[in-house]
Amino acid sequence: MESSHGTIAIPAKCNDCPVKTRQIMERIKQALEKARQERQIHNGGIPGAQGREPVTEINYSQTRTVTVPDDTLRDNRIITGLNPGAFTDAYKLLRTQILQRLNENNWNVLAITSPGNGEGKTLTAINLAISLAMEIDYTVLLVDANLNHPWMLELFGIPQGKGLSDYLLDDVPLAELLIQPSRIEHLALLPAGRPLENSAEMLNSPKMANLVSDMKARYARRIIIFDLPPVLTSADALSFSPLVDAALLVVEDGKTQKQELERAIELLSGTNLLGTVLNKAPLKKN
Ligand SMILES: Nc1ncnc2c1ncn2[C@@H]1O[C@H](COP(=O)(O)OP(=O)(O)OP(=O)(O)O)[C@@H](O)[C@H]1O
Ligand SMILES: [Mg+2]
Repeated sequence: MESSHGTIAIPAKCNDCPVKTRQIMERIKQALEKARQERQIHNGGIPGAQGREPVTEINYSQTRTVTVPDDTLRDNRIITGLNPGAFTDAYKLLRTQILQRLNENNWNVLAITSPGNGEGKTLTAINLAISLAMEIDYTVLLVDANLNHPWMLELFGIPQGKGLSDYLLDDVPLAELLIQPSRIEHLALLPAGRPLENSAEMLNSPKMANLVSDMKARYARRIIIFDLPPVLTSADALSFSPLVDAALLVVEDGKTQKQELERAIELLSGTNLLGTVLNKAPLKKN
């Protein structure tokens, strides 16, 4: 699939991936509009602008190292540098293109989303983050922004615990929440934390805007990647998208419908779209 933004194909490693949902647009539009209005009221419409509370002490270097089992990574298709091949190469190509676009624009906050469920957002976010972290100059903070349905830690084989929602609701210090997966240097994970019902509102809250703007400003060589829910099935991705520099849209080969992709691009029209990732594409034979 080609788009005006450019597409990178990520090969499939299996053919049995689930077929899932369609959109409930009206509900999303209403929730989105409500979230936008609330943010404008709270924040003058500019993330991180005047009137915001300061973020107290984010110390990214005090991360807790957690051992991640090799076989879990392998079973969940997480790249480690120990398993070269077309799959890993596709993420390296994606990394190169993303880095170019980020650097050209002086951006460092990237969201990963897709039109629907199960199209490969989380795996793309993880493997892109690891590819970027392999670049000597960069550190990467990968945030599970699926506050309603946290999943990222499962893929690393790490038990769910506190995370972003606990920071947003209970002021749990970030230093207590960040995790450094063993042997993946330069990568820190911020888990989602306890599941929340009102995730769209939390992602659009002044406290969240404040956190993102602090993360963005603190280190020039840090890239922050947010793994988001789908654009078409909840208001979360759209209510959060004004806070990021750019977004990457994952589409699943043979599953994502053309209209779904078009609708997602239309809804994200206020966001800098870096391109699309064609996920689970058949491996090209040489
Ligand atoms: N390139 C790929 N090849 C094979 N399987 C893949 C690929 N990308 C993702 N998968 C598999 O597809 C399933 C869904 O992937 P993932 O959890 O990343 O999707 P998602 O878009 O984040 O889902 P959700 O909408 O539930 O957040 C997982 O089992 C994952 O391992
Ligand atoms: Mg996901």
